[in-house]
Amino acid sequence: MEVVVAEHAGYCYGVERALKLAKETSVSCPKPIVTLGPIIHNPQVVDWLKSLGIHPVDEITKEKGTVIIRSHGIDPAEARQFKDKGLTVVDATCPFVKKAQSCAKQLVENGYDVIIVGERNHPEVIGIMAYAKQVAKVVEKAADLDKLPKKWKRLGVVVQTTQSEANYRQIVDKLSTKGVEIKVFNTICDATSKRQRAAKDIAQATDLVLVVGGKNSANTTRLAKICAEINPNTYHIETASEIEKSWFTDIGKVGITAGASTSDWVLKDVIDLVKEMKA
Ligand code: F3S
Repeated sequence: MEVVVAEHAGYCYGVERALKLAKETSVSCPKPIVTLGPIIHNPQVVDWLKSLGIHPVDEITKEKGTVIIRSHGIDPAEARQFKDKGLTVVDATCPFVKKAQSCAKQLVENGYDVIIVGERNHPEVIGIMAYAKQVAKVVEKAADLDKLPKKWKRLGVVVQTTQSEANYRQIVDKLSTKGVEIKVFNTICDATSKRQRAAKDIAQATDLVLVVGGKNSANTTRLAKICAEINPNTYHIETASEIEKSWFTDIGKVGITAGASTSDWVLKDVIDLVKEMKA
């Protein structure tokens, strides 16, 4: 059995940066140290951070210590409140997410009706919506456009950084038929585009695909969906412990990819186990 690992898989720049900041914060900033929600959508990494004394919370109730803003970003008003309370704030928002936030802000300030292409309840989209002064519309798929008011003068579009290129294109293509001026900021990050392209390649070239990463990770779930559309023999797993030997009967070539928030050690465990199985 041959094992092929996607050309781009695992930690992206934004996640590496957030984890480096968290590690530095654990030694240099006032305690207790918390993140508002998990710093990234990967339970194994969140557990590792707990061992460094960094805990995810749903709400900030303490009046001392440090808050790390996670890679998905938050409402800027919330960050100000933390500072006003006297908390130390460490901003681990990914720079690509910041770009999407600032595009949304700029569009609203320039009088555009703003559409955010993304998942309504994802923390990144909630944060972008705050920068768009809560007046943007969130569109998850092209069909959602039919439910929106038709009276647009000028439309501005920003995109959740981890959206699929195909979904984004379908939405923008449909918007282009509406006969209004449109300004589009494709804020899908480079790491996402590269992982999606590499995932497609392995899904086409192998008999079975393992997509490794948090089940709560939007970008990993999207990779699994992209692979499954091409190769129905696709499994989304969080760790090597979920792998079942029966999946590999009559399989000649296995493809492995991982989301941008999947740690190197979790990915390596999966690769090693699959390689052992071929022996
Ligand atoms: Fe940032 Fe893109 Fe990673 S937005 S956190 S570089 S997936």
